[in-house]
Amino acid sequence: MTRVWNKSDWRTKPRVQMPEYPDQDALSAVEARLAKYPPLVFAGESRRLRSELAKAARGEAFLLQGGDCAESFGEFSADSIRETFKVMLQMAIVLTYGAKVPVVKVGRMAGQFAKPRSAPTEIKDGVELPSYRGDIINELDFTSQARNPDPDKMLRAYTQAAASLNLLRAFSTGGFADIHHVHSWTTGFAEADKAERYRALSDRISDALHFMTAAGISSERVQTMSMVDFYTSHEALLLEYEEALTRVDSTTGQTIAGSGHMLWIGDRTRQPDGAHVEFCRGVINPIGMKCGPSMTSEDLKVLMAKLNPENEAGRLTLIARFGAGKVAEHLPRLIETVKSEGANVVWSCDPMHGNTIKSATGYKTRPFDLVLAEVREFFATHRDQGTIPGGVHFEMTGQDVTECTGGVRAVTEEDLSDRYHTACDPRLNASQSLELAFLVAEELSNRRAEARAVS
Ligand code: PEP
Ligand code: CO
Repeated sequence: MTRVWNKSDWRTKPRVQMPEYPDQDALSAVEARLAKYPPLVFAGESRRLRSELAKAARGEAFLLQGGDCAESFGEFSADSIRETFKVMLQMAIVLTYGAKVPVVKVGRMAGQFAKPRSAPTEIKDGVELPSYRGDIINELDFTSQARNPDPDKMLRAYTQAAASLNLLRAFSTGGFADIHHVHSWTTGFAEADKAERYRALSDRISDALHFMTAAGISSERVQTMSMVDFYTSHEALLLEYEEALTRVDSTTGQTIAGSGHMLWIGDRTRQPDGAHVEFCRGVINPIGMKCGPSMTSEDLKVLMAKLNPENEAGRLTLIARFGAGKVAEHLPRLIETVKSEGANVVWSCDPMHGNTIKSATGYKTRPFDLVLAEVREFFATHRDQGTIPGGVHFEMTGQDVTECTGGVRAVTEEDLSDRYHTACDPRLNASQSLELAFLVAEELSNRRAEARAVS
């Protein structure tokens, strides 16, 4: 069946969470320039990611998706990319150890700029201005000049995404990610209690590597351990940008969003007849979809049919984000729907977006205990339902920020002001991320133990 779809069809559908550009000519000029630029990713990579996600859907791999809530122009540096990449690798090692399956690493990086907001405007001291929507659209400063959507920012975002991806590719293949360096990745965790657990784990991995060398395991095999596959992802929110970077793959004739390997649809933009679903249904990239408490079984059915009409494993990842204490209320009905439709999906857990609160000190924060609790509830529900928890989705950074409260190096509400750098949602810091990875690894290894006991 040939599906009729055009990359600009979304323009005829209701759109939400997108800016109204005051200067349409300037917007068109930027779109025309972007349309001539090289895509950031190519179709073969997205197809490979899809086949890895297909394994996650079957429980033969596990998805680790993480990074900034919103990348920013101001915080852009090689150091911050390296630190976040390093923490993702550390988390992946811990998870591989628990799950005993490969970990599919997907960054919220190299394109995660546009943000949905809870209100279109913000009022401060009686002054009302458009909300900040991410550096690809406008600026955080509270002036009307800064909050004006400026299409030129898309060009800067493209350049930053290209440079970030270039560095990530270099880190992935140029030796930095070599598993033989597993020990050196502990830097930055020297004080933390979790560093001990990580060091013990890296000792065991080093022993295994020494054994392999001593036993004469071919250098070719060892070579594959010096490179990692690392993919990029972002919310496909700013559709003018996404459309302008959409390309037709010359080898297959398939259409790919060239802005990143994987795209997701946010909880606020997943209307079955809306613009965002319309755009995403036509590109071959793996698609994530956030599922919050308002997701109904009816909508989920329609969305799965639209986004994955051929029911391909690895095409669709459902990212549950209900909030601690609410998973048992919402997840079972969605799992039932997926079961009754016989749909192939990867189930992933975002324990961040349902657990945001305002601290007594006025900061938007996330108590680490609630984050951990939601992850546990997610695993428990899948255990009850006999289904597969296929991945996790976090907002985290390699920087030592104080944005989420709790963790072994307990960040208190009073500490939040020390290093609160996010332009948008609070992120886990390096130590909290690693702690979370240990918890997920524990859940995964319990799962394996139970599966063995049953078989
Ligand atoms: C996000 O992932 O940053 C986000 C806004 O999530 P959600 O759509 O689930 O609220
Ligand atoms: Co966020």
